[in-house]
Amino acid sequence: MSTIQIRTMPSEKLAKSILSGVTPAAKETFKLDSWDPAVFISDLLLQNTSNEKIPKTYEQTSKSMSVAFAKGIGSYSSYMDTIGFEPSIAVARELKDQQQLYKFVTEERSEGYPPHLEVVPPIDVFEKEDIFAENGPDGETNINQSSIGDLEGDIDPNKKWYSDAIFAQQNFTGINPTTIESAGKWVSRFTVEAQRQRLDKTMAQLLERADPASLFVQDCSYFREAFGFSAKDQQKNIADPGGCFRGSTRWGCAAVTLFQLDPQGKLHPLAIAIDYKESLEKSVTIFNKRLSPSQTNVDQETDWPWRYAKTCAQVSDWIRHELAIHLTNTHLIEEGIIVAAHRTLPSDHAVNRLLSPHWIKTLSLK
Ligand SMILES: [Fe+2]
Repeated sequence: MSTIQIRTMPSEKLAKSILSGVTPAAKETFKLDSWDPAVFISDLLLQNTSNEKIPKTYEQTSKSMSVAFAKGIGSYSSYMDTIGFEPSIAVARELKDQQQLYKFVTEERSEGYPPHLEVVPPIDVFEKEDIFAENGPDGETNINQSSIGDLEGDIDPNKKWYSDAIFAQQNFTGINPTTIESAGKWVSRFTVEAQRQRLDKTMAQLLERADPASLFVQDCSYFREAFGFSAKDQQKNIADPGGCFRGSTRWGCAAVTLFQLDPQGKLHPLAIAIDYKESLEKSVTIFNKRLSPSQTNVDQETDWPWRYAKTCAQVSDWIRHELAIHLTNTHLIEEGIIVAAHRTLPSDHAVNRLLSPHWIKTLSLK
């Protein structure tokens, strides 16, 4: 026989809520005395086998729904995990409950950061292993390693990943496609440097004759000043005893990359200052031996100085993407938006329903 004990009757407010059809509070905030879900599940099974009509009261219904909800979430998550998708189920809460869960940190404790969350609510807490877990049946990770191969095939099956074509393409559809810009003052600077390296008949001549509108740069020359390094400092990671970079030394660089867009619409890298230090003359600048995308008398695979220069350019591009585009312009802004939305928009608001699936696991990334 059932061991479910009904201890309280629904309050008047709760009864009105039920009669008006308002969604009851979420399971996390619904007030329950202590109870054991495992015992409750066995009770439900007993009642099912004895064909009794369940549930009977509001509290019983709430408990039943809580268990069913949790079991549903578990099954749904398992299913999504197996097929390799992120599960997302919106949780209905009253606005005042959301305002209790999602609070901005006070200005005194903000440490100079933009408005952000004070404490991550339990429902938004995910372990690092869950955020970056292998999520597919074939062990494929969230960061799809095979996409490198796909990218290569998408552009031109004859191009290798280290080729100039792939390198240039990365600046449009790679990790950071937002900062390529008109070369401007860099045209004359690279021209002078090409002359200094006695490339008068090749690169210097090309730059002198080129339409300035066809030349573009990825300019990371401001990195040293931005990070507080002088021209003589080595850009390596600071001590990180408890962090993920402990025990290793990682190096940064402030590359400037010059490109030319040819009449056929192909972007081609011409020169790279691998770590800009006040001027090109004081820096190491490497020019591409291939003056155009169609030049074939240079082996791109074994042109190691140029390949190293392209690596430096990608390192700079990645640093800028992570710190400026990804962290500052995305996460630091997004977190404020998430908290503000939870504090002002009811959970069934159209905007909230549209955006909230994109916020799964975001707040745990701190
Ligand atoms: Fe992110």
